[in-house]
Amino acid sequence: MTTTDRDRTANRLLRSSAEHSYDPEVEIDWDAPFAPGLYFVPPHRSSLYGTSLWEGLTEQQRITLTRHEVASIAGLGVWFETILMQLLIRGYYKQDPTAAHAQYALTEVADECRHSVMFGRMIGKLGTPVYRPDGLNAFLGKWIAMTGVGPRMFAAILICEEILDTLQREAMADEQVQPLVRMVSRIHVVEEARHVRYAREELARQVRAAGKGRLTFDKLVIGRAAYLCGTRLIHPGVYKSVGIDPAAGQKAALANPYFRETLRWSGERVVAYLDELGLVDGPGKPLWRMSGLLSAA
Ligand SMILES: [Fe+2]
Ligand SMILES: [Fe+2]
Repeated sequence: MTTTDRDRTANRLLRSSAEHSYDPEVEIDWDAPFAPGLYFVPPHRSSLYGTSLWEGLTEQQRITLTRHEVASIAGLGVWFETILMQLLIRGYYKQDPTAAHAQYALTEVADECRHSVMFGRMIGKLGTPVYRPDGLNAFLGKWIAMTGVGPRMFAAILICEEILDTLQREAMADEQVQPLVRMVSRIHVVEEARHVRYAREELARQVRAAGKGRLTFDKLVIGRAAYLCGTRLIHPGVYKSVGIDPAAGQKAALANPYFRETLRWSGERVVAYLDELGLVDGPGKPLWRMSGLLSAA
């Protein structure tokens, strides 16, 4: 792809941003109470769905668990968007401010600012703890925010964006899900479609520019990012909300064929794309396997 194609895409994305951008402050009725009897993620996507632990929960407890699960997903989203904004701004620093490609990077930061406020507000309204990566994952997040460039930067971005996107596309259409969660999902899906387009094209370009040898380290980082997304989508702390020990809940979720299928399904699109680019390979492959995002084959 030439520079002209790059700016042509960016111009299209800038036009779409002008036409379809949402202010969650205005679009969402934050004062509306939650609807009784509705879930916060589609029940069949709950990490414990179908397990004996799930069978032992009352309907109300199942709803509570999904309330914490959506908070966990949103918490990962905010954490990740904070890293993404830093990466985009660092990349922008070196670019020509008159170029559409550079201007789109800033426009995406503006989208992510609104998203993080929206997710933060939703977590506040859910009344759950703020679940987000901690320990080594938090350290690695800080590290990639400071050093992420090229293929590893755009691949890490895509993994998180496309997994969230797949989950939210389903949630926004599901009538068993709370209207607030559906609205938040809908706003995010519309705006993320542009981000996915931007990151996919940029990633392909960066992979071509990097050449084979230089990608080895990036593949390790990309595998680690996949591992983090797969294993921290649902924070083990969520199980406490229904009286289940976090370690026991996590163990049951990891062994749960329904949840394993949910993870695989959520990663399907991005795994296929990264695989086409040869990025689901090399030293990162064992981490990809442990992420739960790959097919069992
Ligand atoms: Fe976002
Ligand atoms: Fe995004």
